[in-house]
Amino acid sequence: MDKLIIQGGARLQGEIRISGAKNAALPILAATLLATSPVTVCNMPHLHDITTTMELLGRMGLELTVDEKMNVHVDSSTIREFFAPYELVRTMRASILVLGPLLARFGRADVSLPGGCAIGSRPVNLHLQGLAAMGADLSVDGGYIRATAKRLKGVDLWMDLVTVTGTENLMMAATLADGVTVIRNAAREPEVVDLANCLISMGARIEGAGTDTLRIEGVDELHGTTYEILPDRIETGTYLVAAAMTGGNVKLKNTRPALLEAVLSKLTEAGAQITSGDSWIELKMDGRRPRAVSLHTSPYPGFPTDMQAQFTALNAMAEGTGVITESVFENRFMHVLELQRMGAQIKVEGNTAIITGVPQLKSAPLMATDLRASASLVLAGLVAEGATEVERIYHIDRGYETIEEKLSNLGAQIRRVPA
Ligand code: EPZ
Repeated sequence: MDKLIIQGGARLQGEIRISGAKNAALPILAATLLATSPVTVCNMPHLHDITTTMELLGRMGLELTVDEKMNVHVDSSTIREFFAPYELVRTMRASILVLGPLLARFGRADVSLPGGCAIGSRPVNLHLQGLAAMGADLSVDGGYIRATAKRLKGVDLWMDLVTVTGTENLMMAATLADGVTVIRNAAREPEVVDLANCLISMGARIEGAGTDTLRIEGVDELHGTTYEILPDRIETGTYLVAAAMTGGNVKLKNTRPALLEAVLSKLTEAGAQITSGDSWIELKMDGRRPRAVSLHTSPYPGFPTDMQAQFTALNAMAEGTGVITESVFENRFMHVLELQRMGAQIKVEGNTAIITGVPQLKSAPLMATDLRASASLVLAGLVAEGATEVERIYHIDRGYETIEEKLSNLGAQIRRVPA
């Protein structure tokens, strides 16, 4: 397994381009199962999770090709099986997103139950409850969800919890259901909106995307489309935090400031000077050390849980004390143990971390555990004294396109070493 070696101390300067959003690309690839003619997805990020999803669809018999611009062309007309194997699902829980589309269009699916993961048990009960309410027959047998449905029917659904992929799965299922489906307490994330916009371009009838109530009028079939994925707001936030921690000045292009207003507000509170346009964000620290910030993660438009680990790393070296409360996942402080090995002063009480910044973190050999935790360790390595080694960086490759290339383009001393 590869590792990253980061020599701390460089102040990030310069410009990089943000990639397409992983968490929009995954549901949109699943949505291609719904279309009776080919779909082209543009601005696709080159990530391990995307490769896994393409392998999953390919194993079902779909034709997938990638052109020189990394656009992905999907033709589902050659589908021959409706099965998502454990060996793929366990590496990427978002594989559950094929369940809704397979049931809606083909009336059958055998999908492995995603296991838990480092950040929590992450059940999919709300996905299954919603599909059952729409008339699917679901059973769990040998770790697999066995599902059949004659034709799903439109229903009025109340989501017990705000769930991003739960909302996405049920919205996709509803596009071909008989009648109208209303999803209340729906997720409002920009990636949910991007999926809705893609489905609408395929002929779906969806209202309320971006609000907590979705209304989907089922149609008989969806046709192909060409759709461009929106920029990745979490990749954007991650590089902005890297610049803030190193006291640098960076400009991120091909992004959208409106997607991460809560994050920009916290960075401003930390002392960053931020300017932006429709498709770019510039952050300046001019060598200043950031101030610690306190925050509470919550569903969009609140502060994103996927940015929590990065801000924990910022607080670890900032001036003052910050209190971070993680209220979305039950175990998303795995990065704390590793940051403490670098000298961070962090006290965890339940789902709250109290972080008092130290003037200088020290390098240490580190172990990545989950995608965003591993990104926070790389950020800490950028400011630590000495060379920091981060192992198991396959976690990072799932969600960050060529992280060491982008950081090197900003002046970081970072290299990937095959283990
Ligand atoms: C999506 O995961 C994202 N993944 C996650 O990003 C993100 O952290 C999360 O939303 C929250 O924003 C993708 O979009 C592929 P949830 P998801 O269902 O949909 C509980 C990353 O780093 N829940 O919104 O799996 C669940 O346990 C990843 O890119 C149930 O109890 O998250 C959690 O506590 C990590 N039952 C809460 O809801 C269910 O049926 C929110 O989870 C579904 C969810």
